[in-house]
Amino acid sequence: MSKKIAITGKGGSGKTMLTAIMAKLLAQNKDIKLLAIDADSAVNLPYALGIEAKRTVAEIRQQIIEDPEARAEIKDKNIRIVMEESLETGDGFHMLVMGRPEGPGCYCSVNDLLKYGIEGLSQQYDVTLIDCEAGPEQVNRRVVKSVDVLIVVTDTSIRGVRVADSILRVIQRDESIRPAVMGLVINRFKGDDELIVASVKKWGLDIFGRIPEDQNITDYDASGKPIFNLPDNAPSVVAVAEMLTKLGLY
Ligand SMILES: Nc1ncnc2c1ncn2[C@@H]1O[C@H](COP(=O)(O)OP(=O)(O)OP(=O)(O)O)[C@@H](O)[C@H]1O
Ligand SMILES: [Mg+2]
Repeated sequence: MSKKIAITGKGGSGKTMLTAIMAKLLAQNKDIKLLAIDADSAVNLPYALGIEAKRTVAEIRQQIIEDPEARAEIKDKNIRIVMEESLETGDGFHMLVMGRPEGPGCYCSVNDLLKYGIEGLSQQYDVTLIDCEAGPEQVNRRVVKSVDVLIVVTDTSIRGVRVADSILRVIQRDESIRPAVMGLVINRFKGDDELIVASVKKWGLDIFGRIPEDQNITDYDASGKPIFNLPDNAPSVVAVAEMLTKLGLY
């Protein structure tokens, strides 16, 4: 098994929270070799997973640009090996962090590096989770082109639904992006999701799961505790476990 799962959606919809809880549950299965990728330049996943990011993909890129010696060294190696060297080890998983490029300039080249990293590294893992940047951009740039499962996270707001819609439009337009499985996760569910259910029907999408508003998450956030350490019986964790079961991963 080698499954790549991308977690996308509106800013603040719960992508990082979902990635961290999925990582927590999958990491409990010692038979699963797990890689978690923070593809968001804002770099939040390491905190949610409770480990430190020491070397990011953006830093590797910066080194290639600025340091001739490092450039020569990196050139001699496969880019995959360079990425491997920047992996962090957590409790039952590895982590790769894209990071934020220094100075002005665009993220394209980091996204390119990241794309190679995802393609190359993920083959060595049973499951690769990719916590994406908010909005449709990384889907658009085909950073997550070859994923097997695409999860769109939304809250129950109209804005969440609109962003989900824009992501799905990008996929519809681009035939090279065809995840085998695609579905929606409704986060901060409080019993009312009429708006979304109507849209889901229109899109012909699956609902992978509903994650309730969870006071445990709020408390962990407030005290700076990693989401990865949430108790197994927290309502959000229970909901994500159900979702993973539905996806055949748990
Ligand atoms: N089910 C939930 N119950 C309570 N709080 C939640 C829940 N889901 C997310 N949150 C909180 O909402 C905030 C946004 O969540 P998160 O950081 O996971 O979103 P995101 O989509 O990764 O955001 P960004 O686009 O900034 O990366 C966080 O403070 C998180 O702890
Ligand atoms: Mg995030």
